[in-house]
Amino acid sequence: MEVTLKVRRFNPEQDEKPYFAEYTLKDVEPVDRVLDLLHHVKWYIDGTLALRRSCAHGICGSDAMRINGVNMLACKALVQNLIKGERGTIQVEPMYGLKVIKDLVVDMEPFFDHYRSVMPFLVNDTIPEGGRERLQTPEQRERFDEGTKCILCAACTTSCPSYWANGTYVGPAAIVQAHRFIFDSRDEAGADRLAVLSEENGVWRCRTIFNCTTACPREIPVTQLIAEVKGEIGRR
Ligand code: SF4
Ligand code: F3S
Ligand code: FES
Repeated sequence: MEVTLKVRRFNPEQDEKPYFAEYTLKDVEPVDRVLDLLHHVKWYIDGTLALRRSCAHGICGSDAMRINGVNMLACKALVQNLIKGERGTIQVEPMYGLKVIKDLVVDMEPFFDHYRSVMPFLVNDTIPEGGRERLQTPEQRERFDEGTKCILCAACTTSCPSYWANGTYVGPAAIVQAHRFIFDSRDEAGADRLAVLSEENGVWRCRTIFNCTTACPREIPVTQLIAEVKGEIGRR
């Protein structure tokens, strides 16, 4: 296959504004991933291209980007799912809503600030009976299973129009993380997390647009988890 890879590039130290650079790649296999194409550009055509990646297998969450207008992990985006026929174009951009540091690398700090705001860790100061483990039934563990699959890639938050409109919205990824602990039977800080999420920039900024659910590479039902947190605020 022949693929034209169109990459949105921007180096704030030398460019006045972003622009698209095009790279023609020949002998591309249908099962190549967009990450393979980006590697080819970086290693053999232009070493100045900046991108983040680590595991290359959908685990670390570092290579989420906008591919043909949809957020996905470059290491899980197969060429054959993006191009029909023997040739075509794939457009790659950094995620929206976060400042571009260079090319496909965005500043993740605001994202992690929102993540930290919901206390994404188990809180329990009570010594368990007998000083042993805090026991949990399979059903209790199942209650928050979906949220444990999150790899913090930010594909959900940066595909949300509410977040684009107002970057102070805590965003779907942080709500998924909050959900993971709010519904954990061993945790004691659910009320604190719900208080954070009841505030102006919490869950009520979600307008049920569903982009987050579509974008999630872990197939987490993000919008449903947000609805459950909204329901829990009402219930308590
Ligand atoms: Fe990524 Fe899904 Fe977690 Fe959002 S919920 S950060 S899309 S893994
Ligand atoms: Fe945004 Fe997802 Fe809600 S896209 S508006 S967080 S359902
Ligand atoms: Fe780790 Fe893609 S490089 S998820």
